[in-house]
Amino acid sequence: MLKMLSKMAMCKSHGQDSSYFIGWQEYEKNPYDPLQNPSGIIQMGLAENQLSFDLLESWLTRNQDVIQFRENGGSMFRDLALFQDYHGLQAFKNVLVSFMAEIRRKKVKFDPKNLVLTAGSTSANETLIFCLAEPGEALLIPTPYYPGFDRDLKWRTGAEIVPIQCYSSNNFRITESALEEAYEQAQKRNLTVKGVFITNPSNPLGTTMSRNELNILITFAMTKNIHIVSDEIYAGTVFDSPKFVSIIEALIDRKLEKSKMWNQVHIVSSLSKDLGLPGFRVGMIYSNNETLIAAATKMSSFGLISSQTQYLLSKILGDRRFIKRYVKQNKKQLIHRREMLASGLANSGIECLESNAGLFCFVDMRDLLKSNTFEAEMELWKKIIFNVGLNVSPGSSCHCSEPGWFRVCFANMSKETLDLAMRRINNFINSDRDIHRQQPLRSVTAAGSRRRRTIANWVVKLSSGDGRRDR
Ligand SMILES: Cc1ncc(COP(=O)(O)O)c(C=O)c1O
Repeated sequence: MLKMLSKMAMCKSHGQDSSYFIGWQEYEKNPYDPLQNPSGIIQMGLAENQLSFDLLESWLTRNQDVIQFRENGGSMFRDLALFQDYHGLQAFKNVLVSFMAEIRRKKVKFDPKNLVLTAGSTSANETLIFCLAEPGEALLIPTPYYPGFDRDLKWRTGAEIVPIQCYSSNNFRITESALEEAYEQAQKRNLTVKGVFITNPSNPLGTTMSRNELNILITFAMTKNIHIVSDEIYAGTVFDSPKFVSIIEALIDRKLEKSKMWNQVHIVSSLSKDLGLPGFRVGMIYSNNETLIAAATKMSSFGLISSQTQYLLSKILGDRRFIKRYVKQNKKQLIHRREMLASGLANSGIECLESNAGLFCFVDMRDLLKSNTFEAEMELWKKIIFNVGLNVSPGSSCHCSEPGWFRVCFANMSKETLDLAMRRINNFINSDRDIHRQQPLRSVTAAGSRRRRTIANWVVKLSSGDGRRDR
């Protein structure tokens, strides 16, 4: 039969069969709504920040001119509607670098010349990998990591991910031996290692990397002569101590501005989490490496940010007083929500990994597993999604090295919904200590029962594949 689609279009490394994405699909089929569907699934698998929308909305109400593209009595409409080159609006880049410095406590000065704009950090990450690695070359990534990286870093670039295995015994911190071990694993697989890719603050851990970890990492990269990519898209969500240290700040502290490493460290950033605007698709690459910036700028034509978006955000970010207030208030909201989740779970005897950043907690449910296996983790997840009615993300979808951890998001819903989620968990734990005899909570649609019958199939499929792909 004629092959109608390309190998890449049909390639399985997209990772869409991960429980992370399947959880979203299940949520979409039966979404919780307080009035329309009160027994539906609550989405706790989506790292969105909806906590400070009121501030942004009131800014828009006060600045009607901006929405109408009016400036100095004239209209900007035609300018914005016409063709833009891939360098982006200068005014936007200027305010973006100030914002980046602001959320890094002004410890780093960013130059707009070293910035490439992309449609979200999904696009920034892929573009960077296209620039750094040939197909078949590898990046080392600490586990657990954001499930989307399998798609963003590997799928179209053909690059490989080799996990740096981290464990709960030291709160999933990076160690020298874990780095060396991952490097050796790559060599055993005949893969050339091009860099280490970190997420700081971490998704799914919700923790910032310590100076010690950053120093270990920098020394390792210098010794092996490889790149460091630091995805810092949660930099503005750090709500508690220790303070956030950017990889560039760590280089400056070690006076490495004149070293080779200065050109081998690259940052990815975005407004998806820090400003809660994933739908606006604003991401960026920052690097001191001129050649890389030139290449990435050319590649960015495949994922530009619309001029209207750049214009609007240049005005919002340009309002420095507003942004300072936003950052402060947003942190307060995040602390409050994190506390609501952690204490709600603690009431049910469930602990969260201690965290100081992010829009989620990494939750320890190892005591609830039937056995210490990823199969048992999938069984438990199935119960949480279908019986308890919460979509959370299993640690195995984040390639966690230990079964029983789940990422649970807290910033994408109202207080009332979070409260309900905590009551559901509490009922689940208290009503029957033997979780395997729970009855399903909901009976929403006929499709629901059909789904329960088919669910067993993909749970079996996932428990044999998810989280084990790279090990
Ligand atoms: C660590 C990390 N990187 C990148 C992304 C993608 O973000 P964006 O919406 O900017 O493409 C996410 C989204 O959750 C993420 O958690």
